[in-house]
Amino acid sequence: ACVCVSHDLNFGWRFSRPSARLSNEVMSVAAEMDGLFPRPTVPWFPNDIQDLDRFANQILSYGSELDSDHPGFTDPVYRTRRKEFADIAYSYRHGQVIPKVEYTAEEKATWSTVFNELKTLYPTHACREHNRVFPLLEQYCGYRQDNIPQLEDISHYLQSCTGFRLRPVAGLLSSRDFLAGLAFRVFHSTQYIRHQSKPMYTPEPDVCHELLGHVPLFADPTFAQFSQEIGLASLGAPDEYIERLATVYWFTVEFGLCKQGSEIKAYGAGLLSSFGELQYSLTDKPKIQPFDPAKTSLQKYPITEFQPVYFVAESFDDAKERVRKFADTIPRPFSVRYNAYTQSIEVLDNTQQLRNLADNISGEIGILCNALRKME
Ligand SMILES: [Fe+2]
Repeated sequence: ACVCVSHDLNFGWRFSRPSARLSNEVMSVAAEMDGLFPRPTVPWFPNDIQDLDRFANQILSYGSELDSDHPGFTDPVYRTRRKEFADIAYSYRHGQVIPKVEYTAEEKATWSTVFNELKTLYPTHACREHNRVFPLLEQYCGYRQDNIPQLEDISHYLQSCTGFRLRPVAGLLSSRDFLAGLAFRVFHSTQYIRHQSKPMYTPEPDVCHELLGHVPLFADPTFAQFSQEIGLASLGAPDEYIERLATVYWFTVEFGLCKQGSEIKAYGAGLLSSFGELQYSLTDKPKIQPFDPAKTSLQKYPITEFQPVYFVAESFDDAKERVRKFADTIPRPFSVRYNAYTQSIEVLDNTQQLRNLADNISGEIGILCNALRKME
């Protein structure tokens, strides 16, 4: 589901603001006109945070179309409700307020069951970062057993912690699009809840999975950096590497375990939002291996049953460095950097940009030196 643009290396990469989209088109035409030079084809990727709006109509499945084995498949009320959520996400554009949802009594009851069960396990099974943030979400974002928190409130709070924000999503995005969102510290989140007939089961991500599993970790600065690193590595990467990065994402952000002192704890959202698998993952039944992106990215995995293998990270910092090193092995004729001021991706391909970056780093080093001097 990506738009491929041909580029002529002799023109260099011209993705920087403000005319990234225009220059993509110009480069494409230039490359077509010129048959003399090799033309590597690099998949299109968003340059600007607003480019993420393009994904809204590129979903692989619409959020209201359920499979026949979905618990809500034969429930017309649930299906109508799912369409309402899908429509919110479908028409959402960057910068808008995420519409608040009045959840029904049934929906709140489902949330309540999941919330109460999982909360009993967090102190013993969740990583310390999750346990540190969870009370803050209760304090500032309306996390309560009788209230389903609103995406807008959470997004606002996450921005104040790490710059991460939420975007409602109508259905399943391609791995390429989903990972690209992370490069901008944007997490595509569902807003609907699982069917009330099976509160402890969902065949797809839902608001319980996103809010209880993912959100607490995105408030942690090191984890936020780690997640963004996976996203940045994905920009313009060949399909084969998108699959490998999606596998890394699976075994970390979704099903990751990490060392904490002499213990192993869970930080993956798939674990932190599943009462059964969270317990199972910390028993001696599954196989445990050290996190190593080169190997982890090739591991096959089931999506409908408990994972037979988990990967343990030494720390989020260590995992981030390992992903960075793995990203260096991705065949891509440029480096990228996220500019948080302009909320855009800088393709580092010319001396002016490298000079700008050097100036920035030099300014930061100056601040660091001054601060050290004052402390002495
Ligand atoms: Fe997830």
